[in-house]
Amino acid sequence: MTARYVVSPAPKVSGRIRVPGDKSVSHRSLMLGGIASGTTPVTGFLASADCLATLEAQRRMGVRVEQHSPTALTVHGVGAKGLSAPATELDMGNAGTAIRLFMGLLAGQPFESTLTGDASLRRRPMERVAAPLRLMGAQILTQDGKPPVRILPVPKLAAIDYVLPMASAQVKSAVLLAALRAEGTTKVTEPAPTRDHTERMLKAFGVELQCEAGQVWLRGGQGLVGAPVSVPGDFSSAAFFIVAGAIAGDASFTIENVGVNPTRTGLLDILRLMGADIRVHLRGDAGTEPIADIEVRASSLRGIQVPEELVPLAIDEFPILFVAAACASGETVVTGAEELRVKESDRLAVMAEGLTRLGITNALLPDGIRIQGGRFKGGTVDSHGDHRIAMSFAVASLRCDGDIVVEDVENVGTSFPGFVQVARAAGLQVEGA
Ligand code: S3P
Repeated sequence: MTARYVVSPAPKVSGRIRVPGDKSVSHRSLMLGGIASGTTPVTGFLASADCLATLEAQRRMGVRVEQHSPTALTVHGVGAKGLSAPATELDMGNAGTAIRLFMGLLAGQPFESTLTGDASLRRRPMERVAAPLRLMGAQILTQDGKPPVRILPVPKLAAIDYVLPMASAQVKSAVLLAALRAEGTTKVTEPAPTRDHTERMLKAFGVELQCEAGQVWLRGGQGLVGAPVSVPGDFSSAAFFIVAGAIAGDASFTIENVGVNPTRTGLLDILRLMGADIRVHLRGDAGTEPIADIEVRASSLRGIQVPEELVPLAIDEFPILFVAAACASGETVVTGAEELRVKESDRLAVMAEGLTRLGITNALLPDGIRIQGGRFKGGTVDSHGDHRIAMSFAVASLRCDGDIVVEDVENVGTSFPGFVQVARAAGLQVEGA
């Protein structure tokens, strides 16, 4: 039997909580620190299964990583040419960010490598990364477009001028990592802004790159110099509690030390359009990333048409946004969100299934969903092994008439170890894994 949560109706959330470190920034600290010269001390690291897969892969390629505590590391960089051939396949587990960024990092290396992952990752599209890397001269073999991904050694890479066909920070980042090893200046154009953690960290590591209006230019051949990385709390983990505060019958509640990089906080804009009472108290910068304490009060939400330009800026927050939409008056409509179909699960289909099971009327669209606000009834939902879906339905208990059983919750540990403890501290009644 798989692990499950049993969540019971809870009247309120309160107090002050913290969430673990940012997953995107933690992956990048290991990857960039590993190919830098000198050391990269990392604090606030997310010791989750996804980031530990990146750590293990770096170790297998000769990068020494000292772990002072679960969240404090020192990465001893091996320099631009210092990675060594891994003896076996590199297993990325459930981590899409790890496999796609490593494709870029390994594309121009003088050794062969193979990247693979769990059953969910082996169903996810990798040609979106392989295609631009091949234009740079890389030799990459996928299995019908999916992992395992085999990367063959090539003598050199060449710069490209690449217009991304979809808004994806993972594809953008993979091309930028390969561009470090390419001859000439690579230009990447995004159809819409996506998270810019790679660009920020590259700059902090001494790389010159120019960013303006959805375009990034990077000259190849530049070396990285290790620098301290202070990882902020993950906005995408805070998101569950931001929505919890907004939908709870009674809430005055703060999530401390959260990364509020504007390329990540689209959920705040969407919830405010829905009428949420959210206050952001800026606390300065954690290294290259702005941080804040986010205060949320119980709010009366109303359904909206979500502006499509906000979709990439809230891309990981849709499962929990759908829970907010189910608690709003009237209808919420999301379109332009077809990328949700290729996440850890098909998040449109899996959320629609769970909402229906809990009595919420909804209609799937090819690129989104329509959700009619209502009230959750008790029942059983299947997360299909998707961490964000499991946590979203746990939060639904704040507006539920009976217990909710959430099946298949093991993967919560890929992004949010300790979720149950933090949720209980906030006031949710969660039993289980
Ligand atoms: C991420 C980019 C996003 C996001 C993922 C993390 C990153 O993926 O969904 O959780 O760290 O670059 P896409 O680039 O596929 O949108």
